[in-house]
Amino acid sequence: MDIARDEHLEQMNRDFLAVSDTYTGTLTKDPFPILAELRETEPVMQGDVLAKFHVPSQADYANSGRPVMTVLRYDDVLAILRDAENWKSSLMADGFGAAVDNLLLTAMDDAEHKKYRSLLQPAFLMPVIKRMTDTVIKPNIEVLLEPLRARGKADLVPEFSLPFPVRVVYAVLGFPADSDTVMKLASWALRILGGPQIDPAKAAVTYPAAMDAGQRLFEHVLPIVRARRETPTGHEDLIGFMQTVDVDGKRFTDEEITHLVRMLLLAAAETTSRTFSNMIIMLLERPDVLDKVRSDRKLIPRALTETMRLDPVAGNLARIAAKDMEVRGTVIPKGTAVTLSISAANRDPEAYERPDELWLERPLRPVLSFGFGPHICMGMHIARIEMEAALDMVLDLPNLRFDPAYPQPAIRGLQLRGPDALHVLWDA
Ligand code: HEM
Repeated sequence: MDIARDEHLEQMNRDFLAVSDTYTGTLTKDPFPILAELRETEPVMQGDVLAKFHVPSQADYANSGRPVMTVLRYDDVLAILRDAENWKSSLMADGFGAAVDNLLLTAMDDAEHKKYRSLLQPAFLMPVIKRMTDTVIKPNIEVLLEPLRARGKADLVPEFSLPFPVRVVYAVLGFPADSDTVMKLASWALRILGGPQIDPAKAAVTYPAAMDAGQRLFEHVLPIVRARRETPTGHEDLIGFMQTVDVDGKRFTDEEITHLVRMLLLAAAETTSRTFSNMIIMLLERPDVLDKVRSDRKLIPRALTETMRLDPVAGNLARIAAKDMEVRGTVIPKGTAVTLSISAANRDPEAYERPDELWLERPLRPVLSFGFGPHICMGMHIARIEMEAALDMVLDLPNLRFDPAYPQPAIRGLQLRGPDALHVLWDA
């Protein structure tokens, strides 16, 4: 199959670019100098940094009418993420929550969050995911890279970075290996993400499209979950796991599992696609670092962490103050939404020496790109293992470099940052 011409993949690429447009808004410049200045001058800023550039928040402040402030310093962002008692996540459902019947782990608080998180977490732990590395994760990456090797050139966004996390996460969940269906479902997941808009005229189109996509996703996933119950696949997978979980002496119903699967599909694929593309771009821009990692593959996890720090895909998270709070001497009244600028915090000079440098030997400290505290990304081990495996395979392409026939790839956006294309050459 010529993967680049696959119809469902092309549709997914269009849906992916629409999400990039939404979360780029009117931003035309590199956002990091702008964020650095704000972090210095207004570390607890009145208003929403996203709205400044016409980028919607996934918590949809524009339509909820809530007062909003933005927090930009590392210590403050970390403290807020840790403190789920005083900073709630419920507002995360305001954006596209309705499209997924408000079942989003990211939008749950307190006992409800603890309950769902502890029920699901065992399936996401490192030893479980590690066991799937050779049997599920690597083969689903190799199947995409194999036909490219002899060609010596590719646009890695549609041909690799976009489809591999989709294939991996659907396989980890236990979906049948049917590439067309999987790409179609991934497209719908992207349309849900593209739902929130600041511009009411745009929202009148994207919001119903998100609702429709949520419904279709449910209708397509439910029979897969039902079939999975009837025909066990014989290997560990997440749908199978959810079918055996004990929930207060009962089992999840197939409908409940379908809701949970749909929630996971939103979180899992395009975040990983963008993060991987961004990492490749940052490494190709720095041939000395690239060579170091190529010749010492033990540095791969470091390279991933450090590129995720420099350019986090989830550049902004959201919380709401449960009571009057004070951050860096500024009062944040109860009910105020806060945008937590992960992009600014990750380059805070108070937290990181030489913060704008990609420095593999950097002293370790928590990087906020997978979040932190009780809501820290539940899929981070899946994401890390698949991206590390994919980088290892891509580094084997001899003399990998940008293709000079195309403009140098640019990472764009203020949220869900990523490139539109990533044309590369290697010696085939
Ligand atoms: C590089 C890829 C990824 C990035 C950058 C990323 C980022 C994040 C971030 C920042 C959060 C925290 C949200 C918050 O605190 O409000 C989060 C939560 C979450 N992520 Fe990821 N994620 C990635 C991949 C995945 C994958 C592969 C899965 C599933 C297979 C996943 C599932 C989840 C879930 C279920 C949550 C909600 C956790 C909770 O609220 O308790 N993510 N992710």
